[in-house]
Amino acid sequence: MDHQTSYDLYASRRARVAAQLGAGGIAIIPTAPERTRNRDSEYLFRFDSYFYYLTGFTEPRAWLVITAEGHTTLFCQPKDLEREIWDGIRLGPQAAPAALGVDEAFSVDELEARLPHLLENRSTVWYPFAIHAGLEGRIDGWLQKVRARVRYGALCPDAQRDLCGILDEMRLVKDAHEIDVMKRAAQISAQAHIRAMQRCARMIRAGEDVREYHLDAELLHEFRQHGSQYPAYGSIVAAGANACVLHYRADNAPVRDGELVLIDAGCELDGYASDITRTFPANGKFTGPQRDLYDLVLASQAAAVEATRPGNRFIDPHDATVRVLAQGMLDLGLLNRNDVGHLDDVIEKRHYFRHYMHRTGHWLGLDVHDCGSYVEPSEVGQLSERKDPLSGELIKDRPSRILRPGMVLTIEPGLYVSPAADVPKHFWNIGIRIEDDAVVTPAGCELITRGVPVDAAEIEALMRD
Ligand code: GLY
Ligand code: MN
Ligand code: MN
Repeated sequence: MDHQTSYDLYASRRARVAAQLGAGGIAIIPTAPERTRNRDSEYLFRFDSYFYYLTGFTEPRAWLVITAEGHTTLFCQPKDLEREIWDGIRLGPQAAPAALGVDEAFSVDELEARLPHLLENRSTVWYPFAIHAGLEGRIDGWLQKVRARVRYGALCPDAQRDLCGILDEMRLVKDAHEIDVMKRAAQISAQAHIRAMQRCARMIRAGEDVREYHLDAELLHEFRQHGSQYPAYGSIVAAGANACVLHYRADNAPVRDGELVLIDAGCELDGYASDITRTFPANGKFTGPQRDLYDLVLASQAAAVEATRPGNRFIDPHDATVRVLAQGMLDLGLLNRNDVGHLDDVIEKRHYFRHYMHRTGHWLGLDVHDCGSYVEPSEVGQLSERKDPLSGELIKDRPSRILRPGMVLTIEPGLYVSPAADVPKHFWNIGIRIEDDAVVTPAGCELITRGVPVDAAEIEALMRD
């Protein structure tokens, strides 16, 4: 993206925020804090997603302030030749307006002194609620300073509102630039999965001791090789029964000939996440029972893809998945008809939950589990109540979000079979998930992660080469 384009992009987002603040409103958006890992080592800095969405600025210790009139102020690290020798070059407040398109910029060291003045005579203070530890307290401190001046005629804001509501709605529908970055992230991640599959098959064929971390290393190599800054989340590389642990992390377990491997990994590129899961046979050839379950999950994913289109609701792909999986569980003997009844009973009473216990997707964007309400905003008042058939808990539902072009979500059905006397033994300890990233388009959806195949025969073919 050239400088002018990025400048205009972030400026237009800030203008859209300003237009929603209401007369006299002001918004305060800090970036993320730097975090200590241990003693004097820090985690790699990752900016706050909201802040980045409005600035494209990746340095730590930065704040953005936007007024309803559209005036924007940035606070950032001051130029400091000595610190820059240690930590790298800083943009600095002098260069910031030309580089980022903000109206004015000051050193972050002036934040405490300047914020009370910026808040004076404003009506409502907007900021992201419950995200930045200590922010509420700091805002209280600034408001106290404004209040100390009311006897001289200053007005103090009398309302605080959560800025997340505005920003979440904006971030939920991606623009062309965002979709372009997400497609590139998806492509890198797809190649990384292929690389891991091929390394696995090669090592198994050579009789080597394959460990989950060997495959994790291949993912990281491919991510970094193509300019991704970091994995978008902790990579899951799960051999055999480990695949049934939903939040398993790549560890040192052996990957054995004859087992399946589940990899759930995606890179982050220029702030945007990708999120792919593939499940493949370590030696490159599915066994009969593995293939039966794999093809069932794939068929359920195809049903979900079909249901991912504008006008449908977020929950529709999940419901489509569940219907296919539940029927397959009955057909394959994962559920016993004599115990659970017919398909509608399995769905109604949630018997399928035993082998499929998560949702089929989530929003994807700057955050892997991206922001955005899952309830249709125009229908929030339509509350319905139902009793959960498993826990008996009373659940209040609101109508699920209606899908629109530009929304991006994952489609990730799975099956996880724990050993049990009433389940055929050849399915025990198999865990399968297939996850792709979908952009909702005017005609349906586009899967942007199919650079790595999902068809069982195609996976076997690429693992032979
Ligand atoms: N990798 C996290 C998820 O699939 O939701
Ligand atoms: Mn996911
Ligand atoms: Mn995932």
